[in-house]
Amino acid sequence: MKGVTIVDHPLVQHKLTLMRRQDTSTKSFRQLLKEIGGLICYEVTRDLPLETVQIETPLTTMSAPTLAGKKLVFAAILRSGMGMLDGMLELVPAARVAHVGLYRDPATLACVEYYFKAPADLSERTVIVVDPMLATGNTAIAAVDRLKEAGARSIRMACLLASPEGLSKFQGHHPGIPVWTAAVDERLNDHGYILPGLGDAGDRMYGTK
Ligand code: URA
Repeated sequence: MKGVTIVDHPLVQHKLTLMRRQDTSTKSFRQLLKEIGGLICYEVTRDLPLETVQIETPLTTMSAPTLAGKKLVFAAILRSGMGMLDGMLELVPAARVAHVGLYRDPATLACVEYYFKAPADLSERTVIVVDPMLATGNTAIAAVDRLKEAGARSIRMACLLASPEGLSKFQGHHPGIPVWTAAVDERLNDHGYILPGLGDAGDRMYGTK
């Protein structure tokens, strides 16, 4: 699928299988989500531009590569985005963080924003939206709409699992935004859950069910 990168690294696939198992504990689920967050971040950032700086090693001077431009922004969609965010921040500790809180209005099924906080200079930074489950696509679409409204221009989407329906809806709304995911599952069920999936990522992460 154009614009979608499946992170098929064996470590990611192995950890994802552990996360899918219903007998995986809350503690393990949270740990695995963090680890996969870091591994997916590694792929999402693979093509970041570098620039050369002059440095002194203990022996001599050299021109050495360093990340160019302003620090990245990780935009975590609450609440399950927080689990992947932890692993990403371990890899890119200087990144800035945006938080996007959205809930689904049960009457209208529309996404309603209840929290939004992001760095002021979003237009000058690459923004990586973080949400483990790209299910219906509605939340990711609304989050990207909001980030664009706040000025973001260079946006990437990092998730763990996606549905074919959610991916095509997301790409229909935001065609220029590349997506990284560990797997694209079979389909959505009638309640908007991914099949075979892993259940409710937030509940499994925080033990709220
Ligand atoms: N959100 C989840 O946590 N799981 C799904 O399967 C779909 C949306």
